Amino acid sequence: MAKEFKRIGILTSGGDAPGMNAAVRAVTRYALKQGLEVYGIYEGYKGLIEGKGSIKKFSPRDVANIIEKGGTALYSARCVEFKEEAGLQRAIEVCREFQIDGIIAIGGDGTFRGASDLCKRGIPCIGIPATIDNDITCTDRSIGFDTAMNTVVEAIDRLRDTCESHARCNVVEVMGRNAGYIALETSIAVGATGVVVKEDLNYQEDALIEKIRVARAAGKRNFIVVVAEGVDHYSEGLAKRIEAETGVETKFARLAHIVRGGSPSLADRLLAAQMGVAAVDALLAGKQNVFICQRDGDMVATDIQEAIATDKMYKNSFDSSVKYPEEALKAYSAERIAEMKEFCAMRTKEVQALLTISENISNYQ
Ligand code: F6P
Repeated sequence: MAKEFKRIGILTSGGDAPGMNAAVRAVTRYALKQGLEVYGIYEGYKGLIEGKGSIKKFSPRDVANIIEKGGTALYSARCVEFKEEAGLQRAIEVCREFQIDGIIAIGGDGTFRGASDLCKRGIPCIGIPATIDNDITCTDRSIGFDTAMNTVVEAIDRLRDTCESHARCNVVEVMGRNAGYIALETSIAVGATGVVVKEDLNYQEDALIEKIRVARAAGKRNFIVVVAEGVDHYSEGLAKRIEAETGVETKFARLAHIVRGGSPSLADRLLAAQMGVAAVDALLAGKQNVFICQRDGDMVATDIQEAIATDKMYKNSFDSSVKYPEEALKAYSAERIAEMKEFCAMRTKEVQALLTISENISNYQ
C-alpha cells in the first residue's frame, strides 16, 4: 500500500444510477481490506462542502445490504456552490479537517469535472462512471446502463401487448440527454419499427411513416417507435404525425425517471465491483485526475481532461450544439489527437452498425 493514503472519502453525485450502491460497497470493502479508512460523504459535493453531519466513517457493516438496491444510499444532490472557487476551497478545508487524502467520486461527466477541480487543488480523486445514459464516450459501458435498458425492454414489451390488442402504435421516449444508446440498443431488443437518436444523421421521418403505412397495409397490428429524449421536443409531435398520416392510432409514453430506479442487474453489479476495485488500486498506485473505463473487458484508468475532450469531439460529430474542443486539444500532440479521432470514429462505427441492424430487422415486407 502506498504510504501517502490513510483515509479516503467516497461520494456519489449527479443523476443516480442502479449499481451505484454496489460500487460504494466494492470501494469501501476493498479499501478497508487494503488498510485504508473510508469516509462516506453524503449528497455528493454538497456534503463535502457541508462537512460535519454529512460525512461518516464507514465500517464494512455500513455498506451491508445495499448491493441489490437501486438509487444511491449515499444520496445525490446538485451543488452550484461547488462550481465556484469559494465552494471548492470550502471542500478542500473539509478534506483537511477530516484528513481525507483522496476521494473516489461516482457519477457522470459533471462528477468528473468536480473531481478534476479537487485534484487541481491538491486532493487526488478517481472517478467511477455511473449514469444510465452511457454517454461517457471513453468507457464502453457505465454503471446503470444495463439495468436501465432492461427496465425499458420490460416496459415496452408491455406496451407492445396492448398495441397488438388494439392495433396501435406507441411512440416511447426514453432517457438519454446527450446520447441515444438506451434508445438504440433497446429498439433492437424490443423489435421496434423505428428508432430516433441524434446520432443518426440520415434519419428521415417520412421514411419511418411510410414504413408504418406499408406494414399496416400488409397486416401488422402493433408498432413501437423508440425516441431518445435528446432529440428535443420531438417525440410527442411524432406520435401525432404518425397517427395523422397513417391512420394508425398512436399513443405516446415518456418513461422518464422510471428507468433510473430499480434493483441493479447482474451486469451492473459486476461492473460496479470491477470498477470499484480498480478505482482503489488506481488511487493506491498514485494515479489521480482519472476515471475508470471499461475497454474490451479491461479496466483502464483514463485521464479526465482527455476523456472530456474526446467526449466533446465525438458528440460534436453528430450534435452541433456541442462545441468542438479546439482549446483543450492544444494540450495534446498531433499523434495523440489522431488517436482520439480514431477512437471517436470507432464509436461512430459501432453506433452505425447498431442503426443498420435496427433498420435491417425492422422491415415488415
Ligand atoms: O443523466 C441521466 C439523466 O437520466 C438524463 O437522461 C436526464 O435528462 C437527466 O438525467 C434527468 O436529470 P434529473 O434527475 O435532474 O431530472
